[in-house]
Parts: sequence; C-alpha cells; structure tokens
Amino acid sequence: MEYKNIIFSVEEGIATITFNRPKALNAMNSETMLELKDAVTVCKDDDTIRVLILTGSGEKSFVAGADIAQMQDMEPRESLAFMELGHETLRLLETLPKPSIAAVNGFALGGGAEISMACDVRFVSENAKFGQPEIMIGLIPGWGGTQRLSRLIGMGRAKELVLGGGQIDAARAYEIGLANRVYPLDQLLEETKKFAQKLIAMPPFGLKMAKHAINFGYDLSLDNANRLEVECCAQCFSTRDQKEGMKAFLEKRKPNYIGR
Ligand code: CAA
Repeated sequence: MEYKNIIFSVEEGIATITFNRPKALNAMNSETMLELKDAVTVCKDDDTIRVLILTGSGEKSFVAGADIAQMQDMEPRESLAFMELGHETLRLLETLPKPSIAAVNGFALGGGAEISMACDVRFVSENAKFGQPEIMIGLIPGWGGTQRLSRLIGMGRAKELVLGGGQIDAARAYEIGLANRVYPLDQLLEETKKFAQKLIAMPPFGLKMAKHAINFGYDLSLDNANRLEVECCAQCFSTRDQKEGMKAFLEKRKPNYIGR
C-alpha cells in the first residue's frame, strides 16, 4: 500500500510509524487509519521486524484525535464504520506479537490518546498533553478510551478525564501511570530507540508469550489467567532460545538468541 499520511520505515529490526498530517496536528481520518492498519499488519507478518515505534511528525503533536472535519457530517452508519475501523486497527496493534512503543511527542488527545494506549508502553516528551476531550464536541471516546483508559489509570481518574474533557501534562500522566517515562522532546526518539534495542536483544518468543499472557489474561478470572500464564510459560520450554538463555546464564556469558 502506498502511504500518504504516515511515514513507515524499518531500520535494524525497529519499525517506525510516523503520523504525518502536520497541518491537522496529525489528526486521524479514515485514510490514515487504513494506512496504520496496513503498516501494523506488515509489522505482524515480517519476522525481521522485532519492535514497533509510533510517533508523530513535528514538535507539537503525536495525534490530536480523530479528524473532526471528516466526522462532522457523518451519518450514524458511517460513524459506526469509522469507529469499528479504529477498534479493529487498535486491537491489531495491541495484540501485535511483538512489542510496541508510543513515543508521544506532544498532543495525544482523543483518538491520539487511544492509539498510544493500544501500545505496550508510552514514552512521552515533556510537552506531551493527554486527554479525552470528545465530550466537548458532543461525543464520547470511540476507539477504546472508555475502556483502556480506566484499565490503565483506574475508573475514577478515567471518568474525570472522559467526563470533564480536560488535558493533563506529561508529569501528571507519569504520576498516574499513563506515561512510562518522560524525556525532553529532543531526546524522546533517541531514548525510545535505546529501549527498542534493549527489547531486540530479548528472545522474540518470550516477548510474544509475555504479551499474550498479559493481554489475554487481564480480563479472565485469576484462576483462568494463571492457567494461561502456566501454558504460555511452558511453551517457552519448546524453544531453543530458552535452552540458550539458561545455558548462557550458567556459563556466565551473554546469550545468543536466534528467535526459535
Ligand atoms: N481534527 C481535525 N483537525 C484538527 C484536529 C482534529 N482532531 N485537531 C487539530 N486540528 C487542526 C485545526 O483545525 C487547525 O487547522 P487549521 O489550521 O486549518 O485551522 C490545525 O489542526 C491546528 O490546530 P489549532 O489551531 O487548534 O492549534 P492549537 O495549538 O491552537 O490547539 C489543540 C491544539 C488543543 C490540539 C486543538 O487543535 C484541539 O483542541 N484539537 C481537537 C482535539 C480533539 O477534540 N480531539 C478529539 C477528536 S474526537 C475523537 O478523537 C473521537 C475518537 O475517540 C475516535
């Protein structure tokens, strides 16, 4: 697929998707969402891609939400398709069998916050601003904000943001666990890549199983979730990388993982 609204690059196992509609502060229209879905699918299918980073172009915005100009005159059926497309794409991103990092370089509002929450972790710049302002334009979050936000920061705090429509800064996002790390804007990508490189050194099957157990265990009963963990952990023993990891530990050397 040819991309017009995102930039997709791959370098040494790290794929980067950069939202690139600077005139609209990288707001997501349906075309951009289709491009995101396509690029995430490429990341899923290409074994040479080991980690995915999502960020925004420019110094002001990650993604300022769904495109209000496109949504303004939507009929309910069209809006249903638009919200479903967002949900399908973000679930694909969330369940990607390899790690994803949102490098939030400014506004992450509405759909922008929702995209970042479908990533495994959020590294943010000091000028980042999070919010679910949909209520101010007669909407509610439509790409998972009512669900992923309360799971990440708790129901009371999520309701404050979703009902009040306000924004929080990077320090507050860090304080409540929405942001994992905060960096000066000019260091954000570099630091994000350092973490991505650290993940590339891990055994890929282990990363896949860890994500699977966390993602799919979260909404199960504790007994069922623990059972899922047991099975995911036991599956690691079928890999050559588990043997190598333990052998290397006992031989006091660095492991040489081969991804099998
Ligand atoms: N959709 C479409 N265009 C947007 C946009 C959006 N979500 N956010 C910003 N833009 C456009 C503006 O219309 C403006 O375009 P023009 O220059 O052509 O007028 C340009 O980006 C720059 O924006 P501002 O002049 O407003 O910049 P600012 O610095 O004064 O304010 C801002 C920045 C606080 C992010 C402000 O633009 C804003 O409030 N944007 C809307 C945020 C929002 O409500 N997001 C939620 C959308 S709904 C949603 O996401 C639903 C869902 O869950 C799926």
